[in-house]
Parts: sequence; structure tokens; C-alpha cells
Amino acid sequence: MKLEIAVLSGDGIGPEVTEQSKKVLDAIAHKFDHTFLYKEALVGAVAIDKTGNPLPDETLDICGNSDAVLFGSIGHPKYDNDPSAKVRPEQGLLKLRKSLGLYANIRPVKAYETLLDKSPLKKEIIKGTDISIYRELTGGIYFGEKKLSKDGATASDLCEYSKHEIERIAHLAFKAAQTRRKKLTLVDKANVLESSRLWRKVVTEIGKTYTDVELDFLFVDNAAMQMILNPSQFDVILTENMFGDIISDEASVIGGSIGLLASASIGDKFALFEPIHGSYPQATGKGIANPIASILSAAMLLEHFELFDEAALIRSGVEKSLKLKISTPDINTEYENVTTSKVGDFIADYIEYPEDTNINFQNIHIGQSTII
Ligand code: IPM
Ligand code: MN
Repeated sequence: MKLEIAVLSGDGIGPEVTEQSKKVLDAIAHKFDHTFLYKEALVGAVAIDKTGNPLPDETLDICGNSDAVLFGSIGHPKYDNDPSAKVRPEQGLLKLRKSLGLYANIRPVKAYETLLDKSPLKKEIIKGTDISIYRELTGGIYFGEKKLSKDGATASDLCEYSKHEIERIAHLAFKAAQTRRKKLTLVDKANVLESSRLWRKVVTEIGKTYTDVELDFLFVDNAAMQMILNPSQFDVILTENMFGDIISDEASVIGGSIGLLASASIGDKFALFEPIHGSYPQATGKGIANPIASILSAAMLLEHFELFDEAALIRSGVEKSLKLKISTPDINTEYENVTTSKVGDFIADYIEYPEDTNINFQNIHIGQSTII
């Protein structure tokens, strides 16, 4: 298969983690005889520095003319600490999502057996957790009308949803549940918000056509509590934009590090793949950023094009790296010098030689082995 991939590595650790995904994709291309062509484009704070615009037209054109987008991360402290900044890096990502119509953001959360003791939560609570969060991505409070009064003393953000916006992601979430444990939980705040009541009404209606899927509802405050009390109760979670943003960061604690969580943002025409973590400016250039979230986003990209064997090989490479503790310091307290790039090298090597017998795993001494 030939794929043209727009690569928007963005700010902070974005470029260094995305580099590892490309390494891994190249290994896949080599092994399975595919051609992946990358087109780099600017987004975020780096784009503002170079062009004044967090999403230059050229970047949007490149994305629109590619088969998929691989995204790094976005954000810079100089904007976070300046609430009056007129142009912000995040606007680039939001405009990109909206322009490409990426209305469904899928965030898988899994408790890896080998990392159960890395989470601050108790093992017995997180064991077996496997959740797929369907977060609506182009509506709600993120995109509703924003107002700031002339005197700067009053501000508002409108949370608006249409039936159509709810329906299209609900169908995707129900279909996903059908291929999993057949349970869908709608997370909302229907006891307070009119927009949430519309979500409940529309999702209940659609649920009648998916008779094999059990549908239940949780208020978002309760869902936030359930997520750490008993996360394995969840299968597919469907929710609006901002609730999904918040509970997916919370859910990342289950996996042991936010550096492990990948996501796919899907629309009717385009698809973008990105780690859920941010630009982690404190880590930039230090080689300590975990590339797994980006590498697993690349696996989701391959699955989107039905390259299932290829994606499965990436996933088993990731699991092998976790098992052998060839991991960055966020989840590895044993070995000191496993860098971002070494994790990428290991997984790319695994793809070439997945049989244990071909790689002498016993001889891996971090920094001394021939393969990392
Ligand atoms: C995410 C991020 C973004 C969001 C920011 C960077 C705009 O937190 O993808 O979760 O809030 O959607
Ligand atoms: Mn977020």
C-alpha cells in the first residue's frame, strides 16, 4: 500500500516522539513492502514563530491532500502564561480538527499487565481495564460562541450541540461496542445541562437500533469517580468534547503514564493520529519523552487503513519493550539511560526480527546491546 502521510510534529517533545513513529512505520514499510511518504508541515508555536499563524494555509493544504495526518504535540509555556495572547498554538489544532471534520476522537485506555505497579492506583483496581473513549471533537464548548465584555469583567463560552453532531459519533461508538464487550456508557451532565439532555435523548433513540449493546448513563462527576474506583466496569465511553478531554487525562493514570495513550481523530473524509499528551516543554530535547503514545498512534493509523497485521506487530513490539523495561523514565525506574530514541530503535528492530530467538534479549544491557 502507498500512503502519503502529513507529519505535523509541532512543539516541545512533538518532533522527537514523532521521529520514533516514522522509524517504526519505516520498519513496517520495509517488512511488508509498503510505501509511506511523509510531508512535514508546520503547526503550533513553531508555526507562529515562522509565519505568525498556528495553522498556515500551506499546512492545511498538505493535510487535505494526504491520506492521513500524524500529529505530534502542541503548546508553549509563553502562551500558557499569557491569557491575553491573541494568537495561541492550540488554535492551530482546533482549526485543523474543525477544517478536516474530525468529529470523533477515539482514545483507548489499557492497563498493561507489565505496568500494573506503575500506576499510583492499586493493582487490583486497574487490572483488566480496557476502555475505548469516544470523545466528540468538533463541537460543544470548545467551538461555541466566545464572549468577553468590553470592560473585560465578564466572559462566556457557549456549549452547543446539534442532533446531527451527536448522531454521527454515537453510531461510531455503538459499532465499536459491538466489536468489544457490548457495553456503552454515555457520560454527561443531564441533571444540569440542556445540551446533555439532548445527548441522552438522541443516544437513547439510536441505542434502540443496537439491541445487542447495553447502554447506560453516568453523570460526569460520578464518571470521574468511577474511573478511579472501578475502571474495569467500562467498555466504550461516549461523551462530549470537554468531558472527554478531562476524563481521558484522568484515565491515563490507569496505564501508568500519559506517555502511553494514543488517539485517532476520525471524520467522514480525513483522519489524524496523535498522542493525547501535550508538548511537555520541560522534557524537550532531553531524550526522556515516552514515544509509545506516538508509536501507538501510528498503529491506529495502520488499522484505519485495515493494515491489521502491521499494527499488531507494532503493538507486540510495544508490549515487548514494556516487558523488558526498554522504556523512558516515566515508567522505568530500573535502567537510567533508555532514551526516547532507543525505545524507537528497539521497536523498529523488533519489527524486523520479532522472534525472540533472533534477538538475544538476555544480553540486553542498556546502552551496550547491539540492538539498542
Ligand atoms: C487534547 C488537548 C487539546 C484539547 C488542546 C491542546 C487544545 O488537550 O487533545 O486533549 O483540549 O483538545
Ligand atoms: Mn487534553
